Amino acid sequence: MKSKPEDSDQINQFYQWIRGYLADLSRSAEGELSHAINFGFWEDGCKNLFDAEMAFFELVLDMLSPLKQGDHGVEIGCGIGGYAVRLLEQSPVQLTCYDLLEEHLNLTRQFAETKSVADRLRTIQGNSMEMNNFSDNSLDFIYCVESSFHYDEKQKFFNEVQRVLKPGATFVYADISCEDVSKITFKSGNHFSAKSELDAYIKNANLDIVEHRDIGGQVYRPLQEYTEYFNDELLDEPAGSSKAKVGKYWDLVLNNYTKLFNKGLMGYQVYKVRKPA
Ligand SMILES: C[S@@+](CC[C@H](N)C(=O)[O-])C[C@H]1O[C@@H](n2cnc3c(N)ncnc32)[C@H](O)[C@@H]1O
Repeated sequence: MKSKPEDSDQINQFYQWIRGYLADLSRSAEGELSHAINFGFWEDGCKNLFDAEMAFFELVLDMLSPLKQGDHGVEIGCGIGGYAVRLLEQSPVQLTCYDLLEEHLNLTRQFAETKSVADRLRTIQGNSMEMNNFSDNSLDFIYCVESSFHYDEKQKFFNEVQRVLKPGATFVYADISCEDVSKITFKSGNHFSAKSELDAYIKNANLDIVEHRDIGGQVYRPLQEYTEYFNDELLDEPAGSSKAKVGKYWDLVLNNYTKLFNKGLMGYQVYKVRKPA
């Protein structure tokens, strides 16, 4: 039985390398850490990545609502717990955080403890494409934000989500989409799908799309502009330091994505789907 994706070690190394820089990039104006690792949803009025990540959280929570007392859900690819902890603060539910990296789950638990919600949080280390820890028809809700671009077998992932959701339960899915992966500069470890492929995975898994939005227009350009500003003005590191190098890499990545977005080749898809009752 396969329990580790092919590129698991690479994913681990990537996050060890970039996590510190991204934590600084997503600090609020008051210095608060977001504990999220995503591109954010740059609604009008978002001044920095922290604001955009919080706006994105509100969008995801809104799509999951209503959540009821005692509901049990899972965040797949939870990262370091920014959304999980805020969801537990705002809703009286039980949440399991599921991620490939034990280190991320440890950081999630620590964050939950500081916010006094750890009693309703469980963490399980595992691979989203094989969710053997969860029984059929057992979960009231699932969400997965900007994690599936790491998955090399997305159909298996959507099938697993379908299997473990209760009939009628909701899944909120958000991720980068790309219509021409040959134009991605840093391809290694990225498994972007086209929008039509995502639609097909969802349909083939026997999940119904209830709502869909492409928020790409509120992601790539503002994030790239903010990253440039952050690297020039706010990153308090000498040129040539490891954080400055990560910043340069991140700027190149986002430049590439923004150009592809401008050509209509990149989007950011958010779906609310439901398992048929
Ligand atoms: C970009 S982070 C997003 C974290 C979080 N969803 C957020 O928005 O802050 C992607 C996360 O997906 C996790 N991940 C990657 N491949 C995975 C897999 N096959 N199964 C479960 N989690 C995975 C990574 O370890 C990482 O924590």
